[in-house]
Amino acid sequence: MKVENLREKYISFFESKGHKMIPSAPVVPENDPSVLFNTAGMQPLVPYLMGQPHPYGTRLCDYQKCMRTNDLDEVGDVTHHTFFEMLGNWSLGDYFKQDSITWSFELLTKVFEIPVERLAVTVFKGNDIVSADDESANIWRSLGISEKKIKFLGEDDNWWPNMELTGPCGPDTEIFYFRSDDDIPEEFDENDDRWVEIWNNVFMQYNHNEDGTFTELPKKNVDTGMGLERITSVLEGVTDNYMSSIFIDIIEKIEKISGLEYIGNEKAMRIIADHIRSAVFISADPAGIKPSNTDQGYILRRLIRRAIRYAKKLNIDINSNWEEILALAIIDKYSKYYPELEQNKNVVLDVLKSEKIKFNRTLEKGLKEFEKMVSKVENKKLDKDHAFRLYDTFGFPIELTVELANEMGIEVDEVGFAEKFKAHQEISRAGAKEKFKGGLASTGDLETKYHTATHLLNAALKELIGSDVHQRGSNITSERMRFDFSCDHKLTDEEKQNVENLVNKWIDEKYDVIKVEMKKEEAINSGAECMFIERYPDVVTVYKIGDVSAELCGGPHVKNTSDLSHIKIKKEEAVSAGVRRIKAVFVD
Ligand code: SER
Repeated sequence: MKVENLREKYISFFESKGHKMIPSAPVVPENDPSVLFNTAGMQPLVPYLMGQPHPYGTRLCDYQKCMRTNDLDEVGDVTHHTFFEMLGNWSLGDYFKQDSITWSFELLTKVFEIPVERLAVTVFKGNDIVSADDESANIWRSLGISEKKIKFLGEDDNWWPNMELTGPCGPDTEIFYFRSDDDIPEEFDENDDRWVEIWNNVFMQYNHNEDGTFTELPKKNVDTGMGLERITSVLEGVTDNYMSSIFIDIIEKIEKISGLEYIGNEKAMRIIADHIRSAVFISADPAGIKPSNTDQGYILRRLIRRAIRYAKKLNIDINSNWEEILALAIIDKYSKYYPELEQNKNVVLDVLKSEKIKFNRTLEKGLKEFEKMVSKVENKKLDKDHAFRLYDTFGFPIELTVELANEMGIEVDEVGFAEKFKAHQEISRAGAKEKFKGGLASTGDLETKYHTATHLLNAALKELIGSDVHQRGSNITSERMRFDFSCDHKLTDEEKQNVENLVNKWIDEKYDVIKVEMKKEEAINSGAECMFIERYPDVVTVYKIGDVSAELCGGPHVKNTSDLSHIKIKKEEAVSAGVRRIKAVFVD
């Protein structure tokens, strides 16, 4: 049975409980270079979970575009997707466990009409940081969940996101649904896959700091997330998400285009449906992502190319407008909720078509080359150089090579490929940096000067405010520098003055700015500053300013601090809890 208007039902339920609906954030995060895509509904809300007041108040709800691409290879089964939507509701220091659990229960049993017997829950059993969540368990009991359907589990199951990741986090309670015609067992068993998780309520009351400690957030929050694809399947009584109303019409279109039936061709059709849907959402995003060999662009490229390869398997004429038919059906279906799809329709169609043409040009040749290679492989293993040649010359994303090889019982040296791929990306990044540098040197002396001044500012803050001050961001124009850093308090006037004086003293001391290349490990051990260590190649460039500053950085910088004018701090303000921002200008 088709379930209509699930998003609307969810939103109006939470509006009736005093929540304001917020629009979905873009799938490519704004102002967060640490992740490629939004992977959860809460991600765009991090600053507010950390304490910053939200303009819409303390009770929020939404449906949010999300992408998870780490298990791209698993798409093809009944439940995995790259793109998905998450229904979410939040309390920012407002209600807590009692209301959160009661409302989840009410929505599921009254609005979605799920029989109580089909539900089971898990709660946190406690660790060194928080004790067992008896409070949540008691609330569930009071709502009529039987004792055997309430299970206490550890941090692997009932802590979000997980103990390793930094940022806001906390214990959670997960709600499961018994999806089977079998008799409902009396006792819940998390290892029985007839029980599927449908909703996660996180009691987000801690920040996991970078030094490994956990501190209480200024306010206790609730963060819940329910995957739209999964709840739709559950309510429609299907076990294959692609047979739910979310996907069925797209699958039917693929059946029509290929002249084949879904039964017997499930994997290929699921991959095409999933990947084209994700490609539509990524390319319609305001960030303007285009297929490329790096970051989001590379994910987009892989999605499109993998979809093409499976379309080929279904004997779809690649040169026909099959991808356009599918993209238009997706745009049509989703524009009501995500108007950017309709607005950027032409961009989306163009991205898909150009990438198709590009890939198609080399695909046949690449397949021939692949056959030649595998006829010569030894020990049933395709080496990294061959895999890299398929990527570099014929545009074969690695999973394509792996899939082709696996079909013939051949393994691919994926680890070796990954190393080569990384080295190659570093070379092209370095090239891009050179170009950027040229541009800056000829047109933006001031930006270069401000850039060197941010290094001095960073060092001065560390010396005067505390060694735990670290850069959190920076933005430079020819007019000013803006520098974000971790710090737990507002700087006093005296502190600001001292920081400014120290930077200006260093400028007067005429330090040489020296560029050295060293191993990443060595650089870190020597105490050089850096913002995103995992993003740097194994050999890094460190800029040293006398003995006052050392930072991993791509440059460009001035030759000597005497090239700089004195700075003046114009503003010092909060960006989010624990992060401050300084704006400064050159004065003479
Ligand atoms: N952030 C939690 C999750 O993604 C709840 O929304 O599961």
